[in-house]
Amino acid sequence: MSEVALGPPRPKRVQGGSATADVVLSAHGGGNAELFPQILALHVPEGAVVADVTYGQGVFWQRVPPGRYRLLASDLATGTDCRALPHADGAIDALVLDPPYMEGLLRPKAGTRGGQGSHAGLRTYYAAGGGGEAPGGGRWHQAVLDLYLDAGREARRVLRDHGILIVKCQDEVSANRQELTHVQIVTGLAELGFYARDLFVLVRPNRPGVARLLRQVHARKNHSYFLVFQKVPSGQPVSRYRTRDLPPRAPGLADGG
Ligand SMILES: C[S@@+](CC[C@H](N)C(=O)[O-])C[C@H]1O[C@@H](n2cnc3c(N)ncnc32)[C@H](O)[C@@H]1O
Repeated sequence: MSEVALGPPRPKRVQGGSATADVVLSAHGGGNAELFPQILALHVPEGAVVADVTYGQGVFWQRVPPGRYRLLASDLATGTDCRALPHADGAIDALVLDPPYMEGLLRPKAGTRGGQGSHAGLRTYYAAGGGGEAPGGGRWHQAVLDLYLDAGREARRVLRDHGILIVKCQDEVSANRQELTHVQIVTGLAELGFYARDLFVLVRPNRPGVARLLRQVHARKNHSYFLVFQKVPSGQPVSRYRTRDLPPRAPGLADGG
């Protein structure tokens, strides 16, 4: 019988962390103002320079503790198009994008623009405004997607490598076609060099009303999404990228805004 040389006993592997149910969940019932701060807390480090380029009424920020981030707010309504931002290349740590998500809201003529009836408030709130071309020049649902992707291209320019892009969107049925906008955005942004880091589903708390229903064809949507992306540095394949923390900002790198 041969002897087996035994080394010193290996230290037992100790698992870190503690058991808890206090975690951020992927699906929520409620409103943007409740969910958005949780998304920031999970994905954007404190002190980050955050550009909200479709700031609107600032609902997203209502419950974000003041001073936690360096917020640069802009909107078409106050003269800044999210497809042509005033920030320098790579100057932004995180960017928030929540443009109009329904094609009807992008129609140039107010008379045919969507958001009638129960959506009357949304109609003015979400509309790009003015009587010009739909953003991107596309028609119907393509106009919605064009705006997201053109803004995504500009976001990529102003974001640092590994920077965070938070996109709010909702799927829609347009011209009797089911348009899974969130899938189209994930696919389109991957082609632009963004890794899909997280996805949140927000379910509205009240039952949506339907003004005139003849026969229901598709499920009435009562949910929307927050998609969280990370900018993959140029030359690296998106398919190989792994979630990583935003590296500390080099001293002296200004926000450029
Ligand atoms: C859904 S609302 C944003 C709501 C906002 N997240 C909030 O918390 O109040 C859409 C906003 O996009 C703006 N918008 C539409 N087209 C735009 C564009 N090309 N560039 C920048 N903002 C645009 C509208 O003026 C509107 O304020």
